[in-house]
Amino acid sequence: MRYRCSDCRDTGYIGGARCHCFRQAAVDLLYLQSNLRDVLKRENFSFFRLDYYSTDITDPLTGLSARQTAQRALETCRRFAQNFGSSFENLFLYGDTGLGKTFLAHCVAKELLENAHSVVYFSAFRLFELFADSAFGRREESGEPAMEQHIFDCDFLIIDDLGTELVNSFVSSELFHLINERLLHRRSTLISTNLALAAFADTYSERVFSRISSNYTMLKMIGEDIRLKKKFYPEGLDRAGAE
Ligand SMILES: Nc1ncnc2c1ncn2[C@@H]1O[C@H](COP(=O)(O)OP(=O)(O)O)[C@@H](O)[C@H]1O
Ligand SMILES: [Mg+2]
Repeated sequence: MRYRCSDCRDTGYIGGARCHCFRQAAVDLLYLQSNLRDVLKRENFSFFRLDYYSTDITDPLTGLSARQTAQRALETCRRFAQNFGSSFENLFLYGDTGLGKTFLAHCVAKELLENAHSVVYFSAFRLFELFADSAFGRREESGEPAMEQHIFDCDFLIIDDLGTELVNSFVSSELFHLINERLLHRRSTLISTNLALAAFADTYSERVFSRISSNYTMLKMIGEDIRLKKKFYPEGLDRAGAE
């Protein structure tokens, strides 16, 4: 007999405590992360392509091409997933839209879910909507721990597209609280944003920025919008060039 979770043998408990698989099932149910699971079939390390990143565009600060930059980010994310649990690390992915930040976040999520870690994915917009709902008592109470609890407690949290939400003092202080709590409990977080670093620092409070810059590995993505490239060269750029 093969168990879906070998740790608890599908009982949901290990020595009286909830098993991680049970916690993840609760997250899936609450957030309907089944849509995340669908995306992860397409967006994972095996499908990450480097040929969408130009070798002609270079970052003046590092001297690296867009492709070399992406390669480094890819390696860092792979290492992050491999070392997860044995070392504590956080990731901050920034750069223009369409450069694969969400894709990379998905790559890591898939890897960690497969290794039985609990993963929660939220766009910043939805995250703060949820926080506002619960702060203003608009959420219905249920028996299970609220989604908010999972956001604080999960092994790996993805906050995607930070900077697209309407930023006010509520958002800024909730963000600080969340980032701070997760750091204190050594729970890893990945943040992605389309904002440049200076704009990011301007948008959120100084203390948010300083927590992030001193505790997160910063990965900058450069290049041209892959969404457009995919549309015109669905087989990939190297093949398009060879033909
Ligand atoms: N390295 C990659 N290999 C293949 N497809 C990619 C890659 N990076 C991004 N894409 C695709 O390009 C589109 C934009 O990527 P996305 O991750 O959403 O960008 P961002 O989050 O930086 O705005 C998506 O359809 C995604 O699947
Ligand atoms: Mg994105």
